[in-house]
Amino acid sequence: MAKAKTVFFCKECGTESSKWLGQCPGCRQWDTFVEEPVIKKSSTGPSNRGISAQPVLLSEVKSETESRLSSGIGELDRVLGGGIVPGSLVLVGGDPGIGKSTLLLQTCREIVNKGKRVLYITGEESKGQIKMRAERLGAFSGELLLLCETNLDLIEDVANKHKPEIIVIDSIQTMFKEDIASAPGSVGQVREATGALMRLAKSTGITIFIIGHVTKEGMVAGPRVLEHMVDTVLYFEGDNYASYRVLRAVKNRFGSTNEIGVFEMQGSGLIEVKNPSEYMLNGRPEGEPGSVVSASIEGTRPILVEVQALTSRTNFNMPRRTAAGTDYNRVNLLMAVLEKRLGIQLGDCDAYVNVAGGMRITEPALDLAIVTAILSSFRNITIKSNTILFGEVGLTGEIRAVNMADQRVAEAAKMGFEICILPQANRGKIKAPEGIKLIGVKNIGEVMEYIKENR
Ligand code: TYD
Ligand code: MG
Repeated sequence: MAKAKTVFFCKECGTESSKWLGQCPGCRQWDTFVEEPVIKKSSTGPSNRGISAQPVLLSEVKSETESRLSSGIGELDRVLGGGIVPGSLVLVGGDPGIGKSTLLLQTCREIVNKGKRVLYITGEESKGQIKMRAERLGAFSGELLLLCETNLDLIEDVANKHKPEIIVIDSIQTMFKEDIASAPGSVGQVREATGALMRLAKSTGITIFIIGHVTKEGMVAGPRVLEHMVDTVLYFEGDNYASYRVLRAVKNRFGSTNEIGVFEMQGSGLIEVKNPSEYMLNGRPEGEPGSVVSASIEGTRPILVEVQALTSRTNFNMPRRTAAGTDYNRVNLLMAVLEKRLGIQLGDCDAYVNVAGGMRITEPALDLAIVTAILSSFRNITIKSNTILFGEVGLTGEIRAVNMADQRVAEAAKMGFEICILPQANRGKIKAPEGIKLIGVKNIGEVMEYIKENR
C-alpha cells in the first residue's frame, strides 16, 4: 500500500514544507514544524483568473461605520471599537473555563432579544448543557437557534438556509472540513476551517464569532495565521481565583487595539464592571508597608491598581524573587537600580511583587510604584493611603515621563486621592484637578526623601 503523503506545517506562521525543518524559514522560530497529512485540494488562492479584476475609486467606496450593531453589552462594544461590524470575523481566545462560552451566549441573548436571528453552533457541549447555562443567564425573549455540529460543510448549508445575522462557533478546534485528512484541532484543519468561515462571513455579511482555545504559551492553539486571517482578535483573561475577567483586543481592523472590557463572573453570568478602578482597589489595606497605588492605562482608559511588595531575609543561597501580574525581569532590573542608586542591600532578601486583583500590567509607568512598594516594605515605611504614584524608572534612577499623564491624574482625583507623585517632566504640563496635589520628581532619591518625610 502506498504511504499516505504528509507535509510539514509551521505552528506559528503556517509555512509549508515537504520535509521537517529545525528552523522555520518563514518566521525564524525553532522547532515549530509539525507533520500532517497532505491537504488534497486547496480551496484558498486565486483560481478564477478568467474574471477580470476591476479597481474602484476610494472616494466612491461607502464607509461602513454606520452599520455597526450593538451587542447589548457595553464592555464588549467598547472592545470591538463601538459595536459589531457586519460580515466581520471575530476570534475570542482564552483559557478553558474562563467564560468564553458564557460571554458569547450572553451576547447571543442580548441580540436575539432585539429580534435578530442568531445561530449558536457548539462542538463541545450538548444542547442540554447549553440550555442549563442559558437558564442561569436569565430570560431569552427572542429565539436562539442551536446546532450541535462539527462538520463545517454542513454548517455552511445551515447558515445559508437560515441566514442568521450572527453565528457563534464554539470552538474552532472541534470543527473540521471533510476534504482534509487530519484530525480536528490540527494546524491544517484549523487553518482551512477558519478560511471557510472567512469566506462565509465575507460572502454573506454574517458576523462570525469564533471561540479558540489557548495553548500553554498563551496563543490561540493552531497556526498564527489564524490571527492573521480574522478581523478582530479578542483575548479573555483573568485569574482563576479572582472573579473578574478582562476582555482585551489584541488586533482590531475596526477599532483601536489594547482596549479592554472588564467583567465579573457571578452566579448569573458575566456582569459588566463599569468602574474598574473602584473594583481593583476594593479591600486594599490602608497604612500597611509594602502597599502602594498606581495609575495604569489600559487602551484608552486609566485604571488604578494596587502594587504590593514583600521583602524578607532569605534562607537560601539564592534570594527568591517573584512577580505576579507584572514582568519578572523588570522587577529584577528595578531592584538592581535600587541597590546601585540608593545603596539598599537587597542581595540577601527574598522579594515578592504582586499587582493585587490579578490584573496583569507590563507598562513601565508602574515602575515607580514597584520601586516604592519594595522600599516601603524593606524600610517598613507606610505610604499614606491618599497617595498615588506613577512614572517610568530609568537605569540611572531617573524618573521618566509617561504617556497620558493627565488622564491618570484625573482618574486618581476622581477616586479621591489627594497626593499624586509623578515625573517632573509630566508635572509641568498638567494643571492639577481640584482636590489633588501634584508632586513632580526627577529621580528615585527624591521619592525616597518625600516618603520618609511624609510617612
Ligand atoms: P465557560 O463559559 O463554560 O468557559 P469556557 O467556554 O471559556 O471554557 O464558563 C465556565 C465557568 O464559568 C465555569 O467554571 C462556571 C462559571 N460560571 C459562573 O460562575 N456563573 C455563570 O453564570 C456561568 C454560566 C458560568
Ligand atoms: Mg466553552
